Amino acid sequence: MASETLTIVDNRTGRSHEIPIRDGSVKATDLRQIKVSADDFGLVSYDPGFMDTAVCQSKITYVDGDRGILRYRGYPIEQLAEASTYLEVVYLLLHGELPTQTELENFTEEVRDQTKLPDGVERFIATFSHDAKPTGMLQAAAASLGSCYPEARQIDSEEIRRQQIVRLIAQMPILAALCARHKMGLKFLPPDKSLTHTGNFLSMVFNRSEGPYVPHPVLERAMEVLLILHADHEQNCSTNTVRCVGSAHADPYATISAGIGALSGPLHGGANEAVLQMLHQIGSVEKIPEVIKRVKAKETLLMGFGHRIYKSYDPRAKIIKQTAYEVFEVTGNNQLLDVALELERIALEDDYFLSRKLYPNVDFYSGLIYESMGFPRDMPTAIFAVARTAGWLSQWEEMLVDPEQRSKIARPRQIYKGAEKRDYVPISQRREA
Ligand code: SDX
Repeated sequence: MASETLTIVDNRTGRSHEIPIRDGSVKATDLRQIKVSADDFGLVSYDPGFMDTAVCQSKITYVDGDRGILRYRGYPIEQLAEASTYLEVVYLLLHGELPTQTELENFTEEVRDQTKLPDGVERFIATFSHDAKPTGMLQAAAASLGSCYPEARQIDSEEIRRQQIVRLIAQMPILAALCARHKMGLKFLPPDKSLTHTGNFLSMVFNRSEGPYVPHPVLERAMEVLLILHADHEQNCSTNTVRCVGSAHADPYATISAGIGALSGPLHGGANEAVLQMLHQIGSVEKIPEVIKRVKAKETLLMGFGHRIYKSYDPRAKIIKQTAYEVFEVTGNNQLLDVALELERIALEDDYFLSRKLYPNVDFYSGLIYESMGFPRDMPTAIFAVARTAGWLSQWEEMLVDPEQRSKIARPRQIYKGAEKRDYVPISQRREA
């Protein structure tokens, strides 16, 4: 039976080293034994952008990018999008199992009881200019909650962590709704506890009357599906940020705020807004060839395309595309859909994209849906952050209870390529360039 090891011969010394292989990986610290002399630090692994580095072991989400597979706690995303609700998926991600009817009712009640924001947070959001980016407002507001709940700094207490997790699941949609209302110049509304978690989010954004708001069932279901699809995605940039900030034992509000910051980048969650902007700039299918030319000349990226892990069609994009048709049945067609469909058709026939395995990702169609539902055009990433809060918190909790990680602050090494030791030169002796 072949042994689960690597034999590495260091040709600098002729010495060979046996490195154990576990779960298809080698531990980077096992490379440290490979030295040329006793005072040599030993080999480190070098992997800018984490192209091939596992930073943790996790049981939450499984992605197979070549086969287009995405599962939360083993359940295929297609089945969850078809049959589940966002709060049920939140429970699944946090607890590892689907809830019973009683467990779901209790969890829903627990969340509903935490929808009241601390005093002053509404006023804080109202201080922003009306053209402020919702992700910026959301990131600041999320971090401000840490001052309202100082006990949250006790991250060693499972009970206190759980209380903050429920608060964040409850209050992130409220904060995002306030950001949207502020953008639209509308007064803030209180939560409507007679509605579902998702229905209340839609009500707090779109209710223009003094009376109760009844979400359109197709739009409410579409919102549930979008929140489910965006809830987690293993070790993406923002989740890695959350794990990194959380490893310093920062409070969960500062940690989630950092995640929002990472997500806001156009290469990550900010792509859904960048896609909308790109489609508006293109405007018509006649202009597509010019865009494709600029992409091939590397003057621009085709936003909403490509993925570090998916080298096939993002399974979420398939579901979102179907959801878009259902939404447009209610809201009326978004004329940019034709531009998006033609862009996808052309790209999927063009060897430039096929050879680089560039397919539509989760961000390609989602912005069109949000725009057709009436959200401000720069709201999509904030909505992404609301959904991903469930995944961020699940991964944060998993890290804090993992014996291999809980006391390990994330502190990568570097390969130093700078100046050797040199002595300080008084300014009077420095020559002008
Ligand atoms: C999300 O990680 C996750 O799971 C993220 C996410 C989640 O749920 O958390 O799935 C959400 O962030 C989805 C991705 C959203 N971003 C975008 O749509 C922005 C556009 N996409 C690119 O920026 C890019 O595809 C990335 C950032 C998503 C992935 O980049 P990689 O893996 O680092 O790949 P790369 O930049 O090395 O590209 C490889 C080649 C290059 O060409 P060559 O140098 O080989 O000639 O593909 C090209 C790139 O120029 N390329 C693109 C492209 N994406 C990659 N060319 C044109 N348009 C693109 N979108």
